[in-house]
Amino acid sequence: MKIGICNDHAGVEYKQKLIKYLSCKGHEVTDFGTGSTEMCDYADFAHPLASAVESGALDAGIAICGTGNGMAITLNKHQGIRAGLAWNTAIARLVKGHNNANVLVMPARFVSYRMAVSMVRVWLTTAFEGGRHARRISKIPLA
Ligand code: RB5
Repeated sequence: MKIGICNDHAGVEYKQKLIKYLSCKGHEVTDFGTGSTEMCDYADFAHPLASAVESGALDAGIAICGTGNGMAITLNKHQGIRAGLAWNTAIARLVKGHNNANVLVMPARFVSYRMAVSMVRVWLTTAFEGGRHARRISKIPLA
């Protein structure tokens, strides 16, 4: 898959490790995040990732900040984005199975890297269930 990843200063370490993990699994990864731990603003990285996923240039995205909320709030401003925040593997499974999240958002300051990589694995390998969930997500866009 073509996967984009973005992060602010709180997510640098997890981002770097996840790029290695995803590349080893054969994915093509585009890095939209910062490589520095200097303080920065999550929206500067979330918007370019969202645009790339929305346009179809990428299949999916992963976003990481301290709580995950700054990234999720920003990403979900884009009509074509369903960014779901997850902090354990059960939620990572449901956010794909039920919400068909095309961006997985994770809170680096509140989950271990081991949990983060497990969530990515589960989210990537879970299929959207469709059915009633397709009806529900069809009602999300404003336009
Ligand atoms: C950075 O300190 C922090 O605010 C950011 O990573 C994120 O948690 C925002 O929602």
